[in-house]
Amino acid sequence: MSRNSRAPPRPSPTLPFLSSRLLVPLSPSFFAPSLPSAPCAPKARPGLHKRTRVGLRLESAVPPIIIAVANQKGGVGKTTTSVNLAASLAAAERSVLLIDCDPQGNATSGLGIDRRSVERSVYDVLLGQVSLDEAAAPSRVQRLSIVPATQDLVAAELELVDAADRATRLREAIAQATAPCDIVILDCPPSLGLLTVNALSAADRVLVPLQCEFYALEGLTHLMATIDRIKAAYNPTLAFEGIVLTMYDGRNSLTHEVAEQVREHFRVFSTVVPRNVRLSEAPSHGVPALLYDAQSRGAQAYLSLARELLEGLPAGSEVPAQAPKSGTKETRAAEGSRDNAERPTTKGARSPKAEAKV
Ligand SMILES: Nc1ncnc2c1ncn2[C@@H]1O[C@H](COP(=O)(O)OP(=O)(O)O)[C@@H](O)[C@H]1O
Ligand SMILES: [Mg+2]
Repeated sequence: MSRNSRAPPRPSPTLPFLSSRLLVPLSPSFFAPSLPSAPCAPKARPGLHKRTRVGLRLESAVPPIIIAVANQKGGVGKTTTSVNLAASLAAAERSVLLIDCDPQGNATSGLGIDRRSVERSVYDVLLGQVSLDEAAAPSRVQRLSIVPATQDLVAAELELVDAADRATRLREAIAQATAPCDIVILDCPPSLGLLTVNALSAADRVLVPLQCEFYALEGLTHLMATIDRIKAAYNPTLAFEGIVLTMYDGRNSLTHEVAEQVREHFRVFSTVVPRNVRLSEAPSHGVPALLYDAQSRGAQAYLSLARELLEGLPAGSEVPAQAPKSGTKETRAAEGSRDNAERPTTKGARSPKAEAKV
């Protein structure tokens, strides 16, 4: 990915101004002072951390939520969703660990890590050579760390072929981690191979980005069948979190037709991510859209998605009390009509048709 030295068009607002435009207010500590050189493990905080089912230590008694962002189709917005949702959750003061499970390493470079400089990656974790804590690197976003991926990861599928626990290596690595964490996001590759199987075996929930195009539904059936198989074989409590409609263009009638069909059959987030150029520009600056242009509709959409996600999590994980309520002046910028191609939508609760059969 080419690095562009041009300064990002950050609105250079004061934080209070910025906060008033955001659905989830940014805490002043959102921006990390600088990007330390990767890789380096996030500091394990001493004190009253409680060991949980998956081993990650928390500051609260609430267990971490592990969310796999999966769709075997390429280019549907998995990485964009992983990076920007992770940053938005960090903005909502959650400790987030993003694990890049794709050998293309787009989430890694999208968070400003030069893949050539990575010494410890998810490949080393899967092969048991380093711990997740050792492979995790900080990002420019406070409270957001990433376990990077490199091309090496392609080899992991072959190297693990004879390992009896090949499908649950990632789950085990997460279980051994000790760094404090509230939410783990797994950015899956565009396939249903061993890497995606590892992510789905480790996850509590699956979130599926979907582009509203003609063949969108075809792949979904296959993905749902895979989720069923993972549930049966490795992870009976895996839940379907919902579909996120991405690159949404409300001016296009096909978009409406596909969205309607998807809503008829699946649980779909009310928040719709519009096609927005800022979302595609931000990775070349090594930052999420929230740091590139916080007021962009793309950044606002992911804040809205984070809020919707947090609202659906168990008690104790909900949006902070100070978050502006939907429909207020502060949030209107992030809300809008589905007819407006550039606006994220946050109307109503998630589609009640909701529970897809998985
Ligand atoms: N909402 C969006 N608006 C504009 N461009 C987007 C949007 N979401 C993703 N993109 C762009 O589309 C391409 C594919 O997205 P990506 O997140 O990498 O998909 P995946 O991880 O599913 O392969 C990337 O160039 C990305 O910048
Ligand atoms: Mg990707």
